[in-house]
Amino acid sequence: MSDTVRLLRERIDGLPRVRLAHLPTPLDACARVSAQLGPTIWVKRDDCTGLAFGGNKVRQHEFVLADAIAQGADCVIQGSASQSNHSRQLAAAGAKLGLDVFLLPKLDAMSDPVQGNYLVSNLLGASIEPIGMQESTKLRKEELAAKLLAQGRRPYVVGMGATRSLVLATVAYVAALLEIVDALGPDNPPDWIFTTSQGSTQAGLQLGCEALGLSTKIVGINPLDARHEAYQQPEEIAGFARGAAQLLGVTTAITAADIVNSTDYVGESYGVPSEAGIAAMRTLAAAEGILLDPIYSGKGFAGLIDFCRRGVVEPGDRVVFLHTGGLPALFSYAADLVPAR
Ligand SMILES: Cc1ncc(COP(=O)(O)O)c(C=O)c1O
Repeated sequence: MSDTVRLLRERIDGLPRVRLAHLPTPLDACARVSAQLGPTIWVKRDDCTGLAFGGNKVRQHEFVLADAIAQGADCVIQGSASQSNHSRQLAAAGAKLGLDVFLLPKLDAMSDPVQGNYLVSNLLGASIEPIGMQESTKLRKEELAAKLLAQGRRPYVVGMGATRSLVLATVAYVAALLEIVDALGPDNPPDWIFTTSQGSTQAGLQLGCEALGLSTKIVGINPLDARHEAYQQPEEIAGFARGAAQLLGVTTAITAADIVNSTDYVGESYGVPSEAGIAAMRTLAAAEGILLDPIYSGKGFAGLIDFCRRGVVEPGDRVVFLHTGGLPALFSYAADLVPAR
């Protein structure tokens, strides 16, 4: 396996990359929550990647924005929910790299008052042009790219619909998998890795495990379901893994059938806290002093708790929960987290 680890590292190091994140992130052994839930649990702290409150996108932007720069881009475009962590981390990365960032947040339930990620993106100096709830984000991103091009700018579009950026984001999580293997030791891989994922994060972990011949099961808990325009089918997620394999020059047999990505923990809808998610946040916070957010990581951890309760994850199993961040949104959802008495 060490030869494959070396090969993957070389291939990853051969790709254009800018340095944005504090890496490797810690892998915290969590004895108290392990005792409560049964398996042995570690939390991989990608909430601690460091840039403007951190999160999984900081790690991904190292490859995505290096590609943008290599292609001669002078600005980047992203559209999402008003409380988008992706947008906030892009705004921070753009500031650090001297790339203008154009954001198209939805005028949704969380855009007023200005709080959380929306507030931070604003402070980071991104150009923010809110769009209507019913508008297509993909279309508005394309329109803005065309407008900027006509003005002589060189825009690079990231996120939903921008497949190259999603494949490069996948590469970043092959690197994260190597960090996990490093921290636990090559002979002690986990039985499971749970994470919150719409696609790229999960695809990278899965490709890394496949390349190393690990039998670790990857479970992605999706924060949104098929009703949402940003939802990606298992087939698309497998496609990110295949795209990343191609970039890294490794073979893969990953297909949609290998992707375990659950929409069972979305609750009412994307962007609305769920009872199980809030309970999961309180469980990890009280047992370990680790904060989750109600929209992404809280629902992800709720998935892990449910797998433990149903006995699918068994006592004694070794489980890594990869914390993807999202913490600035905590303050936007205060009223849901601590209802008025
Ligand atoms: C906190 C958090 N977790 C998970 C995700 C999903 O990441 P990916 O699309 O790489 O799976 C996001 C996306 O913005 C996020 O903000």
